[in-house]
Amino acid sequence: MRNLSLALEDTAPAPDLPEGLFWQKQALDLAAQKRVWGALQQVLDAAPPAQNRTKGGGMTSAAMTNCGQAGWWSDPKGYRYVTANPATGQPWPQFPDAFIEIVQRVTAKSPWPDFAPDACLVNFYGPGAKMGLHQDKDERDFTQPIITICLGDAADFLGGGFARSDKAQNLVVRSGDVLVMGGASRMRFHGIRKIYPGTSPLPDIAGRYSLTFRKAL
Ligand code: FE2
Repeated sequence: MRNLSLALEDTAPAPDLPEGLFWQKQALDLAAQKRVWGALQQVLDAAPPAQNRTKGGGMTSAAMTNCGQAGWWSDPKGYRYVTANPATGQPWPQFPDAFIEIVQRVTAKSPWPDFAPDACLVNFYGPGAKMGLHQDKDERDFTQPIITICLGDAADFLGGGFARSDKAQNLVVRSGDVLVMGGASRMRFHGIRKIYPGTSPLPDIAGRYSLTFRKAL
């Protein structure tokens, strides 16, 4: 079932965003989304996503996996980047060419044209999954941005301030949209409030994938 109410959101002008937070709506057309999805499936086959334990002893509601030289990992010992998948002992799958092409295309027009990610955290949000407000702060170099490709169902992305309690802006992000958080916005709190099941333009995806590219090491 397609969520028609979301069509109205598309006609709304993009809200004013703070310095360093960029939202490129439909940076990937449907053909590019299909290419990324094809490449992503190979990553998922090699390193199946799983819900991980958090430092506090709970479970993440999104399922996670990685590709690239390093992958972000969560378990009761804490949050960190690891160069092998702790579930299998194997290195993470390499970046597919399709991922590199998109990141280069997006960053060429950004303040970070030389961005060279070494990690891609893939989060999968099924119906009901969300991600509380958090900062990405396990990377070594905060001068480097974080780039997110959205694939599958639409979602409410919360762009917050520099304290968890700061008011957050809600952006309805859709499959093919790209978000860049860098510079003055690199350490903003952010999260996913909810996804909109049934809104994926790719019928094979029931849920939402976010592919977040980082310079971790
Ligand atoms: Fe994050």
